[in-house]
Amino acid sequence: MQIAERVKRLGTESAFAVLAKAKHLESKGRDIIHLEIGQPDFDTPGNIKEAAIRALNEGKTGYCPTSGVQELKMAVARETSRTRGIDIQPEQVVITPGAKPIMFFTILATVNEGDEVMYPNPGFPIYESLINFVKGKPVPYPLREERNFSFDAEEFVSLVTDKTRLIILNSPQNPTGGILSRSDLKTVANVAMEKDIMVLSDEIYRRLIYDHSFHSITSIGDMMERTVILDGFSKTYAMTGWRLGYGVMNKTLAEKIELLQVNSNSCAPNFTQYGGIEALEGDQAPIDQMLAAFKERREVIVNGLNAIEGISCVKPEGAFYAFPNVTKLKISPLDFADLLLNKYGVAVLSGSSFGQYGTGYLRLSYANSIENIGKALERIAEAVQEVN
Ligand SMILES: Cc1ncc(COP(=O)(O)O)c(C=O)c1O
Repeated sequence: MQIAERVKRLGTESAFAVLAKAKHLESKGRDIIHLEIGQPDFDTPGNIKEAAIRALNEGKTGYCPTSGVQELKMAVARETSRTRGIDIQPEQVVITPGAKPIMFFTILATVNEGDEVMYPNPGFPIYESLINFVKGKPVPYPLREERNFSFDAEEFVSLVTDKTRLIILNSPQNPTGGILSRSDLKTVANVAMEKDIMVLSDEIYRRLIYDHSFHSITSIGDMMERTVILDGFSKTYAMTGWRLGYGVMNKTLAEKIELLQVNSNSCAPNFTQYGGIEALEGDQAPIDQMLAAFKERREVIVNGLNAIEGISCVKPEGAFYAFPNVTKLKISPLDFADLLLNKYGVAVLSGSSFGQYGTGYLRLSYANSIENIGKALERIAEAVQEVN
């Protein structure tokens, strides 16, 4: 059987591979604490589920317009206008099954062979995978622990060339929990405007930010004209399995993204989009409660990790990931992650799954109960004693 060359260029997400390994061990009776997968451990709030069930019972079971149900597009336009301080029309919104297709479609629609694409490293592995898929040239910009996992502005600007076509931003960030300040965003905006570069701003964790306010690059000058906002419901509303997300962009690009959608998914599921409207415009108290729980867990995991000799962990500003430095351990991070899973029953990811600048770190998702996080920390401390 022939497999096309382009497919051979695709990478993957090791979170799903480690999850599968961990589930396999569980099926054999092992007790595993899951700190590998990036999904809230909470159930979707009841009001959101009820809205989708109502839509299902009302017969919203057929195809819907390719770019999404109009009421949801209007709700997204209102939410995006309000939270970024800009004026967004529903025609600028494309609803997709999960937010991931916005990554795929944006790169397909804006990057030609040989074009350079700058992306965060360590960062979400799918960015690099897709850049390679379209034969773009991946240009990683390092995120530095000493800068709380933001980039160095001078270093960032030095990586921009006349071939740079797209810059990918992700704040709050997976896997480090770092955020970009308004001044970092201004650096990117200046260079993007000067050199006519598009930006893909992955804002999927924007509500999961703890001590600072969220800033979007689209609030600066006319950046919305050249930016695609990637956002969605998976993380904020505990809706990963619903597969519901969206992109917000200029109208010309929205038409092209819609074309890619009609050539692939046709549309996002119809009735789930009514759950999306309720998520955006209904009661926000459950979201605040989840955020408060994540904040408490962040304290427990960061303090716990820093109490283990040989491990140090910067306090993440957002998302639900801790990214501890484990270079002082007498074992490689990959081997340590394997040991933790196979012997101690704690599933974590090696930082190197997020790119070369992630080497020397582990990623722990703290979307788990305080009790389980406590148990995991005890097991990690035991494992460190074994190897050091
Ligand atoms: C940085 C980032 N962007 C986008 C996504 C995709 O989200 P969705 O589940 O809505 O496709 C994820 C999911 O892990 C993510 O971590």
